[in-house]
Amino acid sequence: MHASQEWIDVAPATQFPADSMRGVEVEGRPLIICHVDGDFHALPDCCTHDGGELSSGTLTDGEILCPRHGARFDVKTGQVRAPPAYEDLTRVEVRLFQDRVQVKR
Ligand code: FES
Repeated sequence: MHASQEWIDVAPATQFPADSMRGVEVEGRPLIICHVDGDFHALPDCCTHDGGELSSGTLTDGEILCPRHGARFDVKTGQVRAPPAYEDLTRVEVRLFQDRVQVKR
């Protein structure tokens, strides 16, 4: 693991198969990295309803389903799509650099 000033190296892109999501810890921050429609997205691995671990939920049709009470979030924007959550997830900037996934510090 090596870091530039702005971007933190997460893992090789091959560790994130298409149409899947995976929980990772990046410098103590629990995040989910999602690979959907050829793009990578990073969101906090923490439901805004009551802290459910979203990486234990499911990713279907571009939505993440929280395993605890069923809130749903848009994987690309972090917006809430279904209660009981009402606050959006705050997106984390992510990029592919030399075939590795990196997130913004
Ligand atoms: S903690 Fe996610 S829906 Fe309640």
